[in-house]
Amino acid sequence: MPRIFVTRRIPDAGLKILKDAFGEGSVDVYPSDDMIPRKDLLSKVRGIDGIFLILTETMDAEVFDAAGDQLKIVANMAVGFNNIDVAEATKRGIPITNTPGVLTDTTADLTFALLLAAARRIPESEVFLRDGQWKGWGPLQFLGTDVHGKTLGIYGMGRIGQAVALRAKGFGMPILYTNRNQLDSALESELNATYVDKATLLKESDFLSIHCPFNEETKHSFGAQDFAAMKDSAYLINTSRGPVVDEAALVHALNSKIIRGAALDVFEEEPKLTRGLDQCPNAVIIPHLGSATLETRGKMASIAAVNIVARMNGETPPNCVNPEVL
Ligand code: DGY
Repeated sequence: MPRIFVTRRIPDAGLKILKDAFGEGSVDVYPSDDMIPRKDLLSKVRGIDGIFLILTETMDAEVFDAAGDQLKIVANMAVGFNNIDVAEATKRGIPITNTPGVLTDTTADLTFALLLAAARRIPESEVFLRDGQWKGWGPLQFLGTDVHGKTLGIYGMGRIGQAVALRAKGFGMPILYTNRNQLDSALESELNATYVDKATLLKESDFLSIHCPFNEETKHSFGAQDFAAMKDSAYLINTSRGPVVDEAALVHALNSKIIRGAALDVFEEEPKLTRGLDQCPNAVIIPHLGSATLETRGKMASIAAVNIVARMNGETPPNCVNPEVL
């Protein structure tokens, strides 16, 4: 039987698929809800045939070396796979898989929750109330920003960007979007979306939501100059990957009121926060929860497990991101 290593405790649905396929004794789960220490990862992967990986674990040449030549697959329980050196895996002929599709709507829901929370100052006012500071209704209390009818800018119009645009329709929000490719006109009119360059997106958006993948090209796509080009009443929302935003520049923009607010699910150096970010009252910050629902995490774990089973059965893993190795 192949030996499978799971780098963290995962939803039962995924574990059951692995255990049903390979037997209880073939599946070793690192018994923790926290990130596996690097030294444990390096020793645990030795001699393993399939790795079920969590997005916080960096899978680089050192880990591939530690695993050894029998390694046949790394299944990432995430749609993003910037934690894996895919070029290195490809060089070694190892397929890498991800979990696309199932978290699209869940992440879009959270994006909208963040947008509304920032605009209507929900976390800040809740803390005020729980602290016992509320003395009664006030005409100037916690004034936020209207969302309905405002222009939503979407940077990266893939699956999640489009799902966010659909939700924005219910709020009567015109959409501007910047993307590598323009969508076809039928989809543009369905989404009420207009293709623009980044300069226009920055200048015209009341809310700007980031949905591009993270790679060397998109690193720090949003920095000081970009914030300066935005409306001073605008909000930045990021549910993609932290390093797409220059976090230090964002803290400065928030403190200097260069933009009005931000809502972030992802951070440059998770789980650390850039100094000062947690002190910005105009930032809503939550700990990378884009796909965090019972339903979706179960589906993600199942997809990752199914990819491992397929590979071990000599079949093509359905969600391979480097199919050239097969
Ligand atoms: C992903 O799948 O890339 C998400 O960030 C997980 O929440």
